[in-house]
Amino acid sequence: MDPNDARVILEEERSRGLELIRAADTLEELEVAKVVALGRKGRFAEVQRALGSFDHDDRRTLGMRANEVRDELQHAFDERREDLHRAGEDALLDADRVDVTLPGRRPRPGSLHPLAIVERRIVEVFTRMGYRVVEGPEIEDEWHNFEALNIPPDHPARTMKDSLYVDVPGLLLRTETSAAQIRTMESHDPPIHVVCPGRVFRQETPDATHLPVFHQVECLAVDEGISFADLKGTLEAFAHEMFGGDRRVRLNPDYFPFVEPGAQVAVSCFICDGVGCPTCGNGWIELLGAGMVHPKVLENCGYDSERYTGFAFGLGIERVAMIQYGVPDMRMFIEGDVRFLAQFQGAA
Ligand code: DAH
Repeated sequence: MDPNDARVILEEERSRGLELIRAADTLEELEVAKVVALGRKGRFAEVQRALGSFDHDDRRTLGMRANEVRDELQHAFDERREDLHRAGEDALLDADRVDVTLPGRRPRPGSLHPLAIVERRIVEVFTRMGYRVVEGPEIEDEWHNFEALNIPPDHPARTMKDSLYVDVPGLLLRTETSAAQIRTMESHDPPIHVVCPGRVFRQETPDATHLPVFHQVECLAVDEGISFADLKGTLEAFAHEMFGGDRRVRLNPDYFPFVEPGAQVAVSCFICDGVGCPTCGNGWIELLGAGMVHPKVLENCGYDSERYTGFAFGLGIERVAMIQYGVPDMRMFIEGDVRFLAQFQGAA
């Protein structure tokens, strides 16, 4: 190689190398640029190898220039690598950035089921009056569900048509929470003041006002000297607490085997106040069954019916919830439709 050619090549390789290094957009491109500019197979290396064949002066000046060019390229390479590295990190940080000013993702809180809300409210009214909460089994025997409650064997409720029997003879799904009265009196002496909330089961085809599985709260008070007036006073206190102080309570004679006398209890309609409107019809909303505990029931539990008297009543939680919240169809309670259920958010 001629020293003059070597001089030209060095300058060409210098500007070409600097350009390549500056143009590299990624660390990979930069590596390629370096190999092209300073690699063993490049033209710069060719000049270096040729230096030995030059005379002393050319070797000195061209050698010095070659070193300068190499240092300059190396320096440019280091700087560019540094830049690319920093840019990569910035991009990573940018992509990773958390915007702390963004609104958080709120968890959607659930809410109590409307029946749970109503059950709690009913039970709370009674526990504030001093009643104790008891629970009975959902699978009952015929003694507690029927016989002890003075429901004779030929009563229609006892047929397979109305009750849901299980495979074990003599056992059935309780048809009313009244069964809890018997279990309470069998295991406790008077005075008794209990409420029993729970699920009950009947052979029903679901419609707007019937479900095969529904909920009741049973109430029982037994002591010496308990009268019908106590029953009425308790029902009035309950209606006022539950539906407001203006409500009036009406009792009509009715028959339930486990009470004597028995009554159907209605409250004055909260929409028309007893005048009559589309919601209530005649101004009254029938709410529950009640009565004075039948002497036979007391005797069945080993109580002296000459000494003790008591009252009992049972109300349907679905019915109360429908009235309170204006729910037109009982089936809505069991459909699990979130649009329905979400409306009770914050109701209790
Ligand atoms: N157990 C009755 C029913 O399911 C409701 C009832 C009526 C309960 C009168 C009582 C009562 O305690 O005295 O329809």
